[in-house]
Amino acid sequence: MTSALANISDPTPAALAKAARLLREGKLVAFPTETVYGLGANAMNDDAVVSIFTAKGRPQFNPLIVHVENLAAAELLGHFNEMGRDLARAFWPGPLTLVVPRKPSDISWLATAGLETIALRCPSHPVAQSLLSAFKGPIAAPSANASGSVSSTSAQHVAESLGHNVDLILDGGNTNLGLESTIIGLIETQPTLLRPGAIAREVIEARIGPLAVALDHETAPHSPGRLKRHYATTKPLRLNATSVGSTEDLLAFGAPLPGAADTLNLSRSSDLNEAARNLFAMLRRLDKSNASAIAVMPIPTLGLGEAINDRLQRAAVRE
Ligand code: TXA
Ligand code: MG
Repeated sequence: MTSALANISDPTPAALAKAARLLREGKLVAFPTETVYGLGANAMNDDAVVSIFTAKGRPQFNPLIVHVENLAAAELLGHFNEMGRDLARAFWPGPLTLVVPRKPSDISWLATAGLETIALRCPSHPVAQSLLSAFKGPIAAPSANASGSVSSTSAQHVAESLGHNVDLILDGGNTNLGLESTIIGLIETQPTLLRPGAIAREVIEARIGPLAVALDHETAPHSPGRLKRHYATTKPLRLNATSVGSTEDLLAFGAPLPGAADTLNLSRSSDLNEAARNLFAMLRRLDKSNASAIAVMPIPTLGLGEAINDRLQRAAVRE
C-alpha cells in the first residue's frame, strides 16, 4: 500500500533505487529497521548529516549510529578487538550497536560528534539491508522522530513526526522490536552497557561476561568527559573573542577579526548550519598549527548555535 502522503513508498526495487539515489544526493531517507525507523543520510556527507540534526530539531550534536552492511564494512570504519568481532558474529545482523575506536575514514566528524569513537550497527531488517546494499555505503541514522518525542515504529509515525523534513519514507510496516538497539562500548578495558536495548544484558553477558554500566546514559553524549574522549583541543581556546593577538589563530564566524596568525571561518555568512558542519573539522585543523591559542568569535546561541556553543565550552575547559 502506498500512502496518500507522497513521500511514503513501499520498498519496491524502484523505490529502493530511488532511495539510494536520494542518499547519494545528500537527501534524507527514513527506513525501517528491526528496532525503530531510522532517519538516514550519507554518513560521509557533512551537509546531509547536518540536515539530520535540523530535521529532528535535535539541539545537541548527540553522536549518530552509523549503519553498515556487515562486519567487513564495519571494520573499515572502526577498530574491532576479538570481543567486538565475537559480538558482531553472534548478534549481527541485529539490534546491537558497538561503539569502537574510530579509524581514519571519510565519515563526517559531525556524525560522531567529534569523538574518536564510532557507533556501528548492522541492522537485520530486509529493507534496511536492501537499502545499504543499493547505496553501497555507510548510512548515519538516528531514530526517525522529532527530538524529544517517541521513536517511530511505523512509516506513518515517521510522517507525523518529521513530515516534509524527510525526502522519502520507505514503508516496511510496523517494526517488530520497537525498542532501540542495545549499545555496548568497547573502549574501556571492560565492555560497557551504554544503552539497554533490544538485546537483553543477560544474553550479551552470557556471551562475553559482565558488562560495566554507564550511569545516566542519556546525558553521556553531552558530558563527553564521561566518555573519556573530550572535545577538548590540546591548545587553549579563548571563547567570545572580540580581538585577536598575532600569535593566536582565529576561528571566525561572520566578518573575521583582523590580526590573527591564521584564520578559518566557520561561516562567513553567519549561517549556523554551515558553522555546525565545519566546527569539528576546523578545530582539528587549527589545533595542529603553531599558534599558541585559538580565539573563537562569539556565536549566537539560537538553533544549532546552542550545540555549537556547548561543544566549544566543553572544548575550552582545561583540567
Ligand atoms: O535501534 C537503534 O539503535 C536505532 C535504529 C534507527 O538503528 N537508532 C537509534 O539512534 O536509536 P539514536 O540516535 O536515537 O540513538 C543513538 C544513541 C545515542 O544515545 C548516542 O548517544 C549513542 O547512540 N551514540 C552514538 N555514537 C556514540 C559514541 N561514539 N559513543 C557513545 N554513544 C554513542
Ligand atoms: Mg532516539
